[in-house]
Amino acid sequence: MNPWNHDVAKDEKDLIDVQVDGVWMQMPRGLNVVEVAHRSKKFIPHYCYHPKLSVVGNCRMCLFEMGTPKMGPDRKPILGPDGKPEIAWMPRPQIGCATGITPGMGIRTDSALVKDCRNGVMEFLLINHPLDCTICDQAGECKLQEFSVEYGTGESRFVEQKVRKPKNVDLGERIVLDDERCILCSRCIRFSSEVVKDDVLGFVNRGSHSTLTAYPGKRFDNAYSLNTVDLCPVGALTSKDFRFQMRVWFLKETKGLCTSCGTGCNITLGSREGKVHRLTPRENESVNSQWMCDYGRLNFHYLDSKDRLHRPLLRAAGEQFPGTWGDAIQRSAEALKKVNPEELAVVASARLTNEELFVLSRFLRELGVTRVDMVPHQGQGDSFLRSGDANPNSRGAELLGLSSGGRKFGTWGAEIASGKIRGLLIFGGEDVVAAGIPASALQSLDVLLFSGILANGTSRLAHVVLPAAATAEKTGSMVNVHGRLQRMTRAVPAPGEAREDWTIIRDLREACTGGNSLHSVEDVWKAMGAEVTQFAGLSWAKIGDLGVQIENDLGAIHEKSVKA
Ligand code: SF4
Ligand code: SF4
Ligand code: FES
Repeated sequence: MNPWNHDVAKDEKDLIDVQVDGVWMQMPRGLNVVEVAHRSKKFIPHYCYHPKLSVVGNCRMCLFEMGTPKMGPDRKPILGPDGKPEIAWMPRPQIGCATGITPGMGIRTDSALVKDCRNGVMEFLLINHPLDCTICDQAGECKLQEFSVEYGTGESRFVEQKVRKPKNVDLGERIVLDDERCILCSRCIRFSSEVVKDDVLGFVNRGSHSTLTAYPGKRFDNAYSLNTVDLCPVGALTSKDFRFQMRVWFLKETKGLCTSCGTGCNITLGSREGKVHRLTPRENESVNSQWMCDYGRLNFHYLDSKDRLHRPLLRAAGEQFPGTWGDAIQRSAEALKKVNPEELAVVASARLTNEELFVLSRFLRELGVTRVDMVPHQGQGDSFLRSGDANPNSRGAELLGLSSGGRKFGTWGAEIASGKIRGLLIFGGEDVVAAGIPASALQSLDVLLFSGILANGTSRLAHVVLPAAATAEKTGSMVNVHGRLQRMTRAVPAPGEAREDWTIIRDLREACTGGNSLHSVEDVWKAMGAEVTQFAGLSWAKIGDLGVQIENDLGAIHEKSVKA
């Protein structure tokens, strides 16, 4: 467990009485005042405090007025006319992040004293801060901007020269630091040392000259470094990939999943006018807490790759030519009818959603095809979030009976060479040449059908190429390596004529067998719930934004470290 889960009490049922801005309420023992204010729909502004990091109390923004029950000569609380303890208020403010609640505690979050304190803290914080907002990437989601408006005086009494600090510091492969903007909250330092165990950042010098830097000779390059860009309350740490690309207030936010490994971190996709500009982690304590790895965060530029397949392609006289969807489906269906089901093999990629895999499994059942498998992809797993399974939906493919974990697939190269397999259908864009089937074997096939996102060594040999939507461009669900069913929503439209795989398979099925009873995702869910035990009783709505656990977590050890 994360030792710093400050927003969760050890025992949520162990309640004590506290008074927040004059109202008595019950709150779980062990919470700090910032969290109690949050639960009582109040807000105590804060910079250095973060619920998943240790408490350091160095920004002083969370000052509040605190009181304790007045005690009588008998050492018992003096009760007021309402039967509640009278409160003796302390003359000096306290910091909410480092103060745990006690029975009968009084908390004032908006008194004149508190407002005065916040004015003062804001004035100090802004003394040396540059007037960079117009060119700063954080503008629009900057806590310094927001709290200045909300809690500042709107003017400065500072007439001296501001302290100059390093700007445009190349801190690591993916991060640029602007030291003048840093408010010395130390969130980035604590994240690196406490969560990632990479003690690389620190402050040097004193007072106004304190400066964030990496230890001499070290680079801030760990696999989770970009989480500090989210954590930084100001625009000091910026992502090289995202800086100067887009103003954040233009971004449309869509809830989705990272599909770069089997963990399935919950994410928010930021897009504008059909283009994805950034991925950021979305909180889910059962999966990724508030973090994601840098690899997954940056693995979306393929959406705009020059290799994207935009139109169906048909092979004639040894060349591929663009064609219509009608022609492509008809040509595929005709070719399939010429090959016996026993001579067909189908790649059902574990990058496809459950919905797509389910429609595919129905189609294959009707055709009588049993030779079906996924292509395993070994990733670079670690002891934190990254899974060694680079496929995002291996367990979904298993549940739907389309995977033997790559065992069957391993024999197909030889079976194609011996003529046992005469037709190969690929769904999910797998490059089977890269996975070990020789190009010469593929060239000997009577039918090679490829549906995918990007052109590759396999697609270039296909008789028909069907352009498909990427995960950011479709709605569906997946099961992560821990057995959690999670859903994702389409953020941007697919480019050109590319389509979601389930509609491609549906049309192919209709053209081949005439069968078509699945017209919408709801239809697919009804049918899946009836056929797959683990999906029984579930619906799109019931999965919710945080997913549901449908299977035992076989990766229990890994799950523990997720919450670390
Ligand atoms: S760089 Fe950002 S997160 Fe790090 S100490 Fe400065 S303000 Fe805080
Ligand atoms: S750990 Fe896996 S799922 Fe999570 S962000 Fe990284 S690649 Fe994506
Ligand atoms: S949030 Fe409490 S001192 Fe910074």
